[in-house]
Amino acid sequence: MADKDAVKDVKTPRPAAASVQRLRKAVEKARGGGGAARVEAQKARGKFTARERVQYLLDEGSFQELDLLVSTRATAFGLQDREIPGDGVVAGFGQVNGREVCVYAQDFTVLGGSLGLAHAQKICKVMDLARDNRVPVIGLLDSGGARIQEGVDSLDGYAEIFLRNVQASGVIPQISVILGPCAGGAVYSPALTDFVFMVEGISHMFVTGPDVVKAATGEEVSFDALGGCEAHSAKSGVCHFVAKSEPDCFRQVRELLSYLPQSREEKPPRVANPDPVRRAVPLLEKMCDLDPRKPYRVHHVIWQIADEHKFFEVQAPYAKNLVTGFCRLGGETVGIVANNPAHLAGALDINASDKAARFIRFLNAFNIPILTLADVPGYWPGVQQEHGGIIRHGAKILHAYAEATVPKITVVLRKAYGGAYIAMSSKHMRGDFNFALPCAEIAVMGPAGAVEILYSRDLAACRSEAERAALKTRLTAEYAAKFASPYQTASAGSLDEVIEPAQLRHKVIRALRFLKDKRTPGTHENRGNIPL
Ligand code: HXC
Repeated sequence: MADKDAVKDVKTPRPAAASVQRLRKAVEKARGGGGAARVEAQKARGKFTARERVQYLLDEGSFQELDLLVSTRATAFGLQDREIPGDGVVAGFGQVNGREVCVYAQDFTVLGGSLGLAHAQKICKVMDLARDNRVPVIGLLDSGGARIQEGVDSLDGYAEIFLRNVQASGVIPQISVILGPCAGGAVYSPALTDFVFMVEGISHMFVTGPDVVKAATGEEVSFDALGGCEAHSAKSGVCHFVAKSEPDCFRQVRELLSYLPQSREEKPPRVANPDPVRRAVPLLEKMCDLDPRKPYRVHHVIWQIADEHKFFEVQAPYAKNLVTGFCRLGGETVGIVANNPAHLAGALDINASDKAARFIRFLNAFNIPILTLADVPGYWPGVQQEHGGIIRHGAKILHAYAEATVPKITVVLRKAYGGAYIAMSSKHMRGDFNFALPCAEIAVMGPAGAVEILYSRDLAACRSEAERAALKTRLTAEYAAKFASPYQTASAGSLDEVIEPAQLRHKVIRALRFLKDKRTPGTHENRGNIPL
């Protein structure tokens, strides 16, 4: 691999010393991976080789490989007679957008990228380097899992990796890119990292594959249906980003890193911002003309206010009723957590709660301010939700926001009712600045439900359905006039300001700038990003 800082030999070439020739031969052989036939098979599956992947991911010529000449010392099942270059993994450090990262890429052409002891030790070495030098670590996974021939050594190797994933959690960003099979306990290292990427057609993750599933439960399922991109991005929530191809995937990884700090000891990088901070967003006035029951995609609001209308969404296909992602405001990275009325009316359910809570905890671990956009009718009702644990899962959002000490700004766009009002970073959950648009409705519950409870006797006493409907309409209007506005909340001091929609971008950026050096003493410990 080209080294951009390599010393160029400008003199007339002369034959290399024997020791240098020996090194070159060993390097060339090791770089050949599992040999031409297996490399061809890898390509035939539409996959890049491990080295090509590293090249695509990193800035050109920046890769410094470590442990190229490592090989297994295991001998069982004929391993001593096999060539196992690099023990099936390419590892080292390099740069992304000019910033250092550590990286490892499993080489499927060498024993199916299976993980033996030496392979695990190589991965652990770059993980340690990443943690000690406070740089992100990126794993490119393409592996048949624990190397069967090495028995418990392989399992212990995985344990060492998991341990390091946890030790580095909330200290440095950890990213996993699934670029082939990822089976058995091997899925748990990605699950312990902050973000998981998959590529359509080539990435699969499962604890037990289709054959075992069939033997154990009788279910017949394909590789893709069980553990492909759709399954993990839309259903299980394991995967955060899906790419159409490997180059698209590496572009996305690079983009994600551009929003993140190198470690918890830094703030995210500030970028030059050509988008005027005071840019008015008059289109948002439409919000206040909307029928309160009409759905809309909250993305339109985010695109309006974000620098250059750019929003990098995280976990887009999962729990679409809640949107998470990164944008920049005035050149600074901000994490967005927003109810999305286009799905389930924007209500909080189990999956949305988990999605929000983990993202909030990531943002808090890495000093990224949170902008919460609330338009939420409540927690989603139903037996399935109650028995599925909406109480337990919903509590995670409360916990995540209450514990977060990064700058927190909330804007109530439209509805914010009941427990969900509190959960979406209300003032008394230690929101730094809480704003609302003039069309906001903040109350214990919506007018229709409230009237049914408050006036149940009066409604029951009506002599006809028409009388009941007329009374209900009058009472609902009275309730709405009192509570379906932001003004009661503003008079209680639970909103800092009711703002005109067109000013939203400027108000939020102004608040962020005020909060840029926010300190909450004694609260930096205990910020690991446990999978929720
Ligand atoms: C050793 C392995 C291997 C493994 C694959 N190979 N998996 N060698 N240990 N786990 C080797 C094959 O022998 C073959 O070697 C080469 O890799 C390519 O494999 P193929 O089967 O030819 O490729 P393909 O048809 O594409 O199938 C890929 C695969 C399949 C789906 C990954 O190989 C497979 O099912 N492997 C086993 C997966 C698995 O169950 N792993 C253990 C999970 S348990 P040659 O020499 O022919 O090229 C686990 C526990 C972790 O991982 C626990 C952590 C706590």
